[in-house]
Amino acid sequence: MAMQRIPEEELMNRPLNAKAYAKADFSEPNSSFVAFFAEKFPAFSGRKILDLGCGPADITIRFAKRYPQASVLGLDGAGAMLALAKKAILQESAMANRVKVGKWHIGREACPLGTELFDAVISNSLLHHMREPLDLWRAIRACAAAGAAVLVMDLLRPLTRADAANIVAAYAGKESEALKKDFLNSLLAAYRLAEIEDQLVSAKLDFLHVEVVTDRHFIVSGSIA
Ligand SMILES: C[S@@+](CC[C@H](N)C(=O)[O-])C[C@H]1O[C@@H](n2cnc3c(N)ncnc32)[C@H](O)[C@@H]1O
Repeated sequence: MAMQRIPEEELMNRPLNAKAYAKADFSEPNSSFVAFFAEKFPAFSGRKILDLGCGPADITIRFAKRYPQASVLGLDGAGAMLALAKKAILQESAMANRVKVGKWHIGREACPLGTELFDAVISNSLLHHMREPLDLWRAIRACAAAGAAVLVMDLLRPLTRADAANIVAAYAGKESEALKKDFLNSLLAAYRLAEIEDQLVSAKLDFLHVEVVTDRHFIVSGSIA
């Protein structure tokens, strides 16, 4: 029987874990995330991008570099991550005025954005943290302008724990033990394709396109109707 989901802590609020995550090398998946967006939305010229579950803001900053016409707002529920994100933004003086971060624990706190809408809503590696995944899909719906570009990427839950351990060995073999453990827990907490498709139906977002893009990642992409 396929392995059941084992939820992990929602917020990455422990300073040492947040630091270990920020220090790890995610350049390959993070640059792929930007490349997927550029491939799906080749004519994107929007001015406002929202990055949900921005963590240390590596992807947030990459979007500001790739789209110089845009301001990028990253939101995360974890103060420890936001502190690291702010440091990273300060080091990017050329675009510091176009990248901001703020706090939102999605599903637990009222949205801090009021009625503000965005031309793109992106999110990488947040869904698997969500205890109630529909909260993320509803947040995307609520913050996206009509026609907005949406890109969500995350891990897929492997069929067995042994498959998950093999993925950790293949892609994080050189990382610290703490990071390997976090990665394994993330794979065990990730959703499966059929679960994600059900979530999209429930959130009335099933016009978005779901595809498997690596041996461990899916993306959901499309424009808000
Ligand atoms: C694995 S990290 C991904 C960070 C970043 N998107 C990246 O790709 O590097 C997941 C982030 O989502 C945040 N998070 C988890 N659950 C959340 C929620 N319900 N609301 C807001 N942020 C959340 C965590 O605090 C953490 O910073």
